[in-house]
Formats: sequence, structure tokens, C-alpha cells
Amino acid sequence: MTAAHKGVSASYADQLVMRIFSGIQPTGRKHLGNYIGAITQYVAGQDRGDPAIYCIVDLHAISVPYDPAELRERVLDTTAILVAAGLDPDRCVLFRQSDVPEHSELQWLLSSVTELGRLNRMHQFRDKSVAQRELVSAALLMYPVLQAADVLAYRAHEVPVGEDQREHLELMRDVAVRFNARFGEEVLVVPEHRIPEVGARVRDLQEPDRKMSTTGGSVQGTVLVLDEPKTIEKKFKRAVTDSEDPPTIRRGPDKAGITNLIEILATVRGVTPDAIEQDFADARYGDFKVAVGTEVAEWLAPVRERYDELRGDEAALEAMLAAGAEKARAMAAPTVADVRRVMGFGGS
Ligand code: AMP
Ligand code: TRP
Repeated sequence: MTAAHKGVSASYADQLVMRIFSGIQPTGRKHLGNYIGAITQYVAGQDRGDPAIYCIVDLHAISVPYDPAELRERVLDTTAILVAAGLDPDRCVLFRQSDVPEHSELQWLLSSVTELGRLNRMHQFRDKSVAQRELVSAALLMYPVLQAADVLAYRAHEVPVGEDQREHLELMRDVAVRFNARFGEEVLVVPEHRIPEVGARVRDLQEPDRKMSTTGGSVQGTVLVLDEPKTIEKKFKRAVTDSEDPPTIRRGPDKAGITNLIEILATVRGVTPDAIEQDFADARYGDFKVAVGTEVAEWLAPVRERYDELRGDEAALEAMLAAGAEKARAMAAPTVADVRRVMGFGGS
């Protein structure tokens, strides 16, 4: 029995399956941080997950101002990126959150065991509500409860995410524990996060003290999965480094830019950061940046090409999502039925 199964009732834990679940926002402008921190893990999860379940979280997207027609498009963009990156609808469950109403229902039910003060203190809520010039919606506050519902509805054991999701994962674990304690039955599985050792926080190339992000980062410092190879190379060529004398390609606390580039290249090559430091021990910053840019561009090129082919066939993408939603619903419905039962809803 793995650690992921600890604290779970015998009936669920004995199944000894490894259910993997993760969610991704429908922005369409996925960047290298998403790709390294999350998407490559999703692809790998298909071999270990039984099943691996991936959800495009369009219900989360309405927690900030948005355009309905655009949302629908961005869901398809994101679907095509994920499939282009290697998700195979025959080996995983890929679906759109709003197609499975169990998520919304479970969110409400779980809100009864979620502490308001805790939601109020979440970093993402604080940052986003300060940055919000229009309405600060109640949905923004409830965001982590919906995220908890996403995972708990599937009784998932493992959640692959980047570092920025740690706090949300802690909350969802607490919600599961609290729910089970409150209703006296181990109805929910307490999930574990899976955060990669290298690449969990890819940094902005221009402002390496910040994470790479399409909402808060710089345009030149954010490498998009769908950028042209030339654009990618240019962004790396201009990456901010440091003024160490003599310049050395090694990781260090005052070397956020170079550390970031080392970790990115380590992921692309599938080697350790130490190996990259050794390979480039005598290189100059300029040459190193060119090498990283070239290799990242080559790495992402096939994804972009496959994306272009897939994105044109919207009917096929919609059919894929519909099939995924059907499989997802068959898994989520029994959990929500159990939750309803222990909470005192419905006839006995
Ligand atoms: P989002 O696009 O915000 O839904 O994020 C999708 C996944 O990418 C989540 O698991 C995030 O933790 C991960 N992620 C986002 N930004 C970064 C980053 N700069 N470095 C590593 N992982 C990231
Ligand atoms: N909040 C996550 C993000 O911004 C997206 C997400 C929604 C998610 N539901 C999830 C991630 C469930 C993991 C599990 O990246």
C-alpha cells in the first residue's frame, strides 16, 4: 500500500489502484511553465494512472471577468494542446469540467465543511482579488472548494501540479479529512500532490524572480508552447542572467535566471541539472542561452505542428470531450451519491 492510500477506508484503499487527477485552465496560451510543470507529467501519468483523469476547468475560468464565446474557443485550444503534447483519449479520461455537473454539486456540499477564514487567506485569492479592477466575485473565493470537488469526486490518489498549487492541495486534503470526520465514514480519499523536483516553478525569462505566467509575467519572458521556433529562440537569447564575474553556469540563490535556464534544459534533455552544469562548465552565457533556446524550440516544434492539425477539426475535439465526459460522469456520480447519502439527503 502506498502513502497515497493512507487514511482511506479499507474498501477504497484495497482496490490498490492509482487514480491520477489534474485540472488545467482553458487559456489556450499555455506556456513553458505549464508544459514542464504539469503537461509532461500528465502524459507520463497515462502509464501509471488507473485511470489518469484530466479536466479542462472552464467553471474555474468564470471566477474572473471573461467572454463566453472566447471561453468556448479556449477550451478547444487547450484540448488540442493537450492531445498534441501526447494525451491519448484512449489511455486517459480527458473532459470539460462543465460537462459533468457533479463538480458543481459537490462543491456546494463541500463548502459546508470548508472554513471561510482559510479561503480568505489563500495566496491566490489575495493576489487575484487585489489585482482585480472589476468585480471581485464570490466565485474567486470559492475557487479552491471547486478544485477540491474536482479531485475528491474521483477519489483520486495523486494530483500532478506545479509548485503554485501546493496551498490548494493542502486545502483539499483538509476538506476531505474534515468531511470524513464530520460524517463518520471514509467516503472521500485524501489525495497526495505530485510536484516535480525540477521544473515545478519555471521562471519568467525577463523577471526570473517571478514564475512564468500569462497573466502576471512579461511578454518577452513568457515562452508559449505555440510560439514559432524563431520567437522562442529570440526570447531565450534575451533572457536575463546575472553579472557574476567570471560568469559561471551553475545554480545558486543569486542566480535565478541561470538556475532557471539550467533547469529548463535539464528537463528538455531528461538529465539532471548537475549534468547540464558539467556540460556547459566552460561556456559563456550567450552561447548557453542560444543552446537552451534552440533545444526548447526543437522540443516544442512537433507539439505546435500537431496542434495545427488537430485544432482545425472542432467536431472531432468536441466528440473527444463528450466521450471523456461520459466516462468521467460514471466515476463521479457514485461518489456524489455517497456524499449525499451520508449528509442526509434523499430517502433511505
Ligand atoms: P493553469 O494554466 O494555471 O491551470 O496551470 C496548469 C498547471 O501548470 C498547474 O499544475 C500549475 O501548477 C502549473 N504551472 C503554472 N505555472 C507554472 C510555472 N511557472 N512553472 C511550473 N508549473 C506551472
Ligand atoms: N487551480 C489549478 C491551476 O490554476 C487548476 C485546477 C482546477 C486543478 N482544478 C484542479 C489542478 C484539480 C489540480 C486538480 O492550475
